[in-house]
Amino acid sequence: MAIRIDGKVISTQIKDELKEKVAVLKAEGTEVTLAVIQVGNDPASSVYVGNKKKACEYIGVRSLAYELPEETTQQELLEIIADLNKREDVNGILVQLPLPKHFNEEEILLAISPLKDVDGFHPENVGNLSIGRKGFVSCTPAGVIELLKRTGIEMEGKECVVLGRSNIVGKPMSMLMLRENATVTVCHSRTKNLKEITKRADILIVAIGKPRFVTADYVKEGATVIDVGIHRGADNKLCGDVDFAEVEPIAGAITPVPGGVGPMTIAMLMKNCVESVELQK
Ligand code: GUN
Repeated sequence: MAIRIDGKVISTQIKDELKEKVAVLKAEGTEVTLAVIQVGNDPASSVYVGNKKKACEYIGVRSLAYELPEETTQQELLEIIADLNKREDVNGILVQLPLPKHFNEEEILLAISPLKDVDGFHPENVGNLSIGRKGFVSCTPAGVIELLKRTGIEMEGKECVVLGRSNIVGKPMSMLMLRENATVTVCHSRTKNLKEITKRADILIVAIGKPRFVTADYVKEGATVIDVGIHRGADNKLCGDVDFAEVEPIAGAITPVPGGVGPMTIAMLMKNCVESVELQK
């Protein structure tokens, strides 16, 4: 039976550590502040934004909520971001994605100061990650690294296969695993002989957005399997990109969905907010 990597327990540990740091900063006169911008009322985004606000409350981070109407223009949003960039009392800026269709998302993300880009989406931060410089790292892949470290799973010298090449997860994930001295292979929709490659993995990280795609025949006995996906099935239950029931008996360690990678994303966002204070000094 595989070790179940418990993202809820680990993310709570991280949040409790951050709570102490935030209290120290507050005593020194700095109130860590995150501005969260949501445009429109996509129900999934509202849930994510609500969870981010709750995490801020738990840790003691001040959150400024910008709930903007669907009709907000590109220019109006750019002006709000420019104002937040200038404000010394705002440490982090987060624009919840996806934005409504009439927005140029790339221009919006570029407008956020790289020093306040707690999502780690700005090209300057992406570039910093790729050449090993300090900067913000995308929260979900950073959360995966933290899960592995805190579970005592060695990455150095290991065969790591990342399934998926998105800008938010797959690409930064591969960079982070390289930074940990793993041997990294990135697979995607055009990869040939996929199962042959995933079966080589000591650590298999799955972020392809297809429910229960990875079955037992993709996994080497004893491998660590990290599932980044989250989907609501026809039965209304949540599931990941990995067929948990099939893979768990052969894996060495595995993350469940829900309760695996999900809670780590928000914990790492909070970590980035606290670190933003240092970065801005
Ligand atoms: N939408 C889905 N995930 C994310 C995320 O991590 N950050 C932002 N800003 N929007 C998202």
